[in-house]
Amino acid sequence: MERDAPLIDPFARAITYLRVSVTDRCDFRCVYCMSENMTFLPKKELLTLEELDRMCSTFVRLGVEKLRITGGEPLVRRGIMTFFRAMTRHLDSGALKELTLTTNGSQLARFAGELFDAGVRRVNVSLDTLDEKKFADITRWGRLPQVLKGIDAAQAAGLRVKINAVALKDFNEDELFTLQEWCRTRDMDLTFIEVMPMGDLGNEDRLDQYWSLKDLRARLAERFTLIDLAERTGGPARYVQLQETGQKIGFITPLTHNFCESCNRVRLTCTGELYMCLGQEDMADLRAPLRASRDDAPLEDAIRAAIERKPKGHDFDYSRQKVGGQVSRHMSHTGG
Ligand code: GTP
Ligand code: 5AD
Ligand code: SF4
Repeated sequence: MERDAPLIDPFARAITYLRVSVTDRCDFRCVYCMSENMTFLPKKELLTLEELDRMCSTFVRLGVEKLRITGGEPLVRRGIMTFFRAMTRHLDSGALKELTLTTNGSQLARFAGELFDAGVRRVNVSLDTLDEKKFADITRWGRLPQVLKGIDAAQAAGLRVKINAVALKDFNEDELFTLQEWCRTRDMDLTFIEVMPMGDLGNEDRLDQYWSLKDLRARLAERFTLIDLAERTGGPARYVQLQETGQKIGFITPLTHNFCESCNRVRLTCTGELYMCLGQEDMADLRAPLRASRDDAPLEDAIRAAIERKPKGHDFDYSRQKVGGQVSRHMSHTGG
């Protein structure tokens, strides 16, 4: 495939990472991500698998090297393995360096082998607690044993697993070392995420839930020697190594340390909207130019025009004892 001029935004950031939400649906209802009664998009609004392929292939041609498939829960989208298998050709050509996904793990027992065969080597599994009762509470519909089976299957298939845990006050504070020790024994990396004010907050209060990773890090440092690592995976996490165990712990800190200055990513939703920032409302419709022509030129133009509007960063802020920069869109819409 011919390479066109790369995507550079107004702040001189090269856009090399595309996150694609392939469905807004999910078999869980995590409290910080969805409301209990979600209305999902009618099927006809979705990009077809062929359209998703065309979108992603166009981004790859424009210099995207890392593709992360998200949702909703990406593995509940019907036929999604066809799409993964189609993306293998971009890994084979060398244009794409990484094809990966972020999943709740519920369907991994079924799909781990096929994912590996398609060229996936790493998966991020969202898991905030190892307590069955708490897991059922926070995911509303999820069941922990199913996810644990999925993780077993992923590791058995040869996939490297990273656990993503949202840090939540009064929820998993008491599990910091349990999670750390569990990940050590299973040889998995672990990343903590600060909870972001997204979705219809209703009577939930993100400020009450918010556990700053500065505090979490200090707690870890009471027991371990933390070595800051320069190593990056192309995502926003900063990593430390625990000297005593050798394991890697990541921190995603949109609130305590804004990482937007090095942002290299944009997000495509399952209806073909391109969000240039997770924390802003602006988006560009790519479905219309995609459908308008069999030629990719109008789509490429729309992508370039969108990248020219990529904002400097999000405005999330809890420092004034109230929630600032809130975005009403649910996390499941943009895929985290
Ligand atoms: P690695 O490839 O393993 O580094 O993963 P990643 O950090 O790129 O992706 P992952 O899906 O593990 O991201 C975890 C979470 O970090 C997401 O679900 C979001 O909550 C958050 N996150 C990722 N990118 C951004 C971003 O650009 N801005 C903000 N505010 N949060 C982000
Ligand atoms: N703040 C931070 N992370 C969130 N996620 C979902 N909602 C939020 C939020 N409000 C995370 C999930 C998962 C990823 C897809 O996004 O835990 O790791
Ligand atoms: Fe589903 Fe993930 Fe959202 Fe939970 S965080 S409801 S698992 S998309």
